[in-house]
Amino acid sequence: MPVITCIEDLRRLHERRTPRMFYDYCDSGSYTEQTYRENTSDFDQIRLRQRVAIDMTGRSTASAMIGQDVAMPVALAPVGSTGMQWPDGEILAAKAAEEFGVPFTLSTMSVCSIEDVSEHTQKPFWFQLYVMRDWDFVKRVIERCKTANVSALVLTLDLQLLAQRHKDLKNGLSIPIKPTVPNLVNLATKWAWIRAMLGTKRRSFGNIVGHVEGISDMTSLAIWAAESFDKSMDWEMVKRIKEMWGGPLILKGILDPEDAKLALNVGADAIIVSNHGGRQLDGALSSIRALGPIMDAVGGKVEVHLDSGIRSGQDVLKALAMGAQGTYIGRAFNHGLGAMGQAGVAKALEVIHKELDTSMALCGRTRVTDLDRSNLQVPEGFAGRWA
Ligand code: GLV
Repeated sequence: MPVITCIEDLRRLHERRTPRMFYDYCDSGSYTEQTYRENTSDFDQIRLRQRVAIDMTGRSTASAMIGQDVAMPVALAPVGSTGMQWPDGEILAAKAAEEFGVPFTLSTMSVCSIEDVSEHTQKPFWFQLYVMRDWDFVKRVIERCKTANVSALVLTLDLQLLAQRHKDLKNGLSIPIKPTVPNLVNLATKWAWIRAMLGTKRRSFGNIVGHVEGISDMTSLAIWAAESFDKSMDWEMVKRIKEMWGGPLILKGILDPEDAKLALNVGADAIIVSNHGGRQLDGALSSIRALGPIMDAVGGKVEVHLDSGIRSGQDVLKALAMGAQGTYIGRAFNHGLGAMGQAGVAKALEVIHKELDTSMALCGRTRVTDLDRSNLQVPEGFAGRWA
C-alpha cells in the first residue's frame, strides 16, 4: 500500500491506473486551459494568517450545507463518467461520502444511475441536472429523483453547449472504448482496471440509456450534448424546474455578480460559484477570484458555495474564510477513485479533512464556522478591477 500524503499522490496513481482517455477527460480544461490552471494558481496567491498561543482543543469541522449537517463543508461535485475512472465509481464514491458524512452529488452524465446509487446507499444524496430539449426526459428524471433518495437538485447553468477539450478529441473519447491501435496499446498497461470493469454491468450512461428517445450516438458526450441539451435554457426555465422539483435547489455555474443576483430572484437555496473546473469558458475568472464580489453582491441573502480548483484543506479554508458556506471537490475525489476505488475516495476526504483541521488550528480557530476574512492575507486587488 503506497503512502498517500496528499491529493497529488492520488492523482499520480489515478493517471497510472486508468485508461488515458478517461484520465484526460477528468483532468483537463477547455481550449488553452488558462481558467483550469488559474483555478488552482489563484488559490496559491492567498496566504493564511498564522496566529499563536490560542487554545486549539475541542476543534470541529462540522457545519451545514443547505441546512443539512456535514462533517466538513466539502461535498463531492457532480462529475460525468465517474464510473469510467473506476468501475461502479459513482456507487463507491457515494458510499465513501456517506461514511464520511459529506454530500455526494450524482451527475446526469453518470455511469451508475440514480436508482443504482439509491439502492446502494442509506443517506440522501444530491442530483445534478442538465436541461435537455426533451422536457419529458427532464420531468421523468425529476420524478425519478423524488422516488429515489435525492434531497437536493443541483441545476448546472454553464453547460448548454460543450466547450472543446482538445485531449478528448485527440484521444477519441468514447464509451465504450473503440478498439483502435493507440487505445489497445494504452489498455495493455491497465490490467487492474480491465479486470474490475469486466466485473460490472455498468458501462454506459445509466441515467440516459433506456430513458431518452431519438439519440443517435450515446458513445460520445460531445455529440450527445450537442444534440440534446436545451440551448434556449433561461431564467424562466430555471423557475419552471424549481416548481417541478419543489425541493431544495442549488444553482451551479454562477461566476458573475449580476447572475448571482438573478439567482437570488428565482429563489435558489444556494448558488455554486463555479466555472465548471475550467472546462467551459476558457479565459473566465477563477472561482476563488470571483467569490469576493459575488459575496458582496448577494449580501448574505443566499447561501454561497464554491467549486473549481480545490485540491487541499488549505484551499477549503481559504474559500470558507472568503465567505463560502460550502465547497466541492471533483477531480480530487476522482483521483482517489481512480487510484484506489472507494478507499481512495475515503483517503481523499481524509487528506482534505486533516489539512483543513490542522490549518484551521494554526490560524487560531477551532471551528470552521468561525473562519472569516481576518484569517487570510489577500493580495491587494485580488478580485481585480476589470473594465
Ligand atoms: C461535463 O459535465 C463535462 O464537463 O464534461
